[in-house]
Amino acid sequence: MLRRVPTESMSRPLVAEVSLSALRHNLSVVRRYAPASQVFAVIKANGYGHGLLRVAAALREAEGFAVLNLGEAQQLREAGFEQSILLLEGFFSADELPQIAKQGISVVVHSPWQVAAINSALITGVNVFLKINTGMNRLGFPPAEVAEVCHALRLGGRLDQCALMTHFATADDERGISAQLEQFAAATAGQRGQRCMANSAAILRYPQTHADWVRPGIMLYGASPFAGQAAADLDLRPAMTLRSRLIAIQQIKPGEAVGYGRSFVAEQAMTVGIVACGYADGYPRHAGTGTPVLVEGVRSRTLGRVSMDMLAVDLTAVPLAGVGSPVVLWGEGLPVEEVAAAAGTISYELLTALAPRVPVREMS
Ligand SMILES: Cc1ncc(COP(=O)(O)O)c(C=O)c1O
Repeated sequence: MLRRVPTESMSRPLVAEVSLSALRHNLSVVRRYAPASQVFAVIKANGYGHGLLRVAAALREAEGFAVLNLGEAQQLREAGFEQSILLLEGFFSADELPQIAKQGISVVVHSPWQVAAINSALITGVNVFLKINTGMNRLGFPPAEVAEVCHALRLGGRLDQCALMTHFATADDERGISAQLEQFAAATAGQRGQRCMANSAAILRYPQTHADWVRPGIMLYGASPFAGQAAADLDLRPAMTLRSRLIAIQQIKPGEAVGYGRSFVAEQAMTVGIVACGYADGYPRHAGTGTPVLVEGVRSRTLGRVSMDMLAVDLTAVPLAGVGSPVVLWGEGLPVEEVAAAAGTISYELLTALAPRVPVREMS
């Protein structure tokens, strides 16, 4: 049987394709679900691995961007983005406040020291999103303290507005949001200010959480937040496709092993393809034998341990594959959630771990 042979010269073939139209489409899905809400597109962690400024440009119709730190916010301002920008953990030091005020950046306030810092800073016009801990026990004020903290912030006279926000711990599973939503409603009853609660899962499942602002992350990148529901069923399109090619072929005999630790041993003679992609590219090292992969568009599986720069795949179902055959690690045709699940992790981790050494090809 004739295998494919390379016909073109090859540089290392690994590339992450980022589809700007998929990003735009996924924002339109957010709009469809939450038509009356403003959108903070969550673009922290380098736009979930897709590129901060690239994603911001594709999603420039969002009313705001949510990021982790002042550095990201400054990059956005320097690139000319004038939308609202929200620092999801607020400021880490009071020294950041003058820049925050100057650049018109909104801050989450989750701890008493931040309230004190704002009230004693020589600034005005700060936009605060007061974080309320409704059950996640990560960041935020206890519901019983909300009225008092709002009062203290307003009294301090530094604020432009004080919005109220919370974050859901189980919007993506059957436990849902009701307990947290009840806490939030009780804690904020009678308080002025905009409301901001919903992550992707809540946007897709719980319209009662949409309120003034929604905060979609993962759905913008085309991955499903739900373990049992595919992104395509939610009309989401993968924004990143990690593509590579086979760079070598091995014929192995029964009893022979593949890769470090000899963890995969062939039961019969088989053909193995070696793919230019490894854990130093962000592919999860803990993805064991059987993690799905597409070779020449045909679904196959990885074999043995992932190396730093390479991984091995089973070519039994792709007899014509050879050096140069295209491989999709995740993305179009192979949802990143599926690869993540097979590797015992979540799509968020795979996308955000894409290594800087992987070239990105922007697709309109
Ligand atoms: C506070 C906050 N809001 C919203 C999001 C977006 O969540 P998702 O990506 O699940 O939509 C995140 C993500 O980590 C977050 O930390």
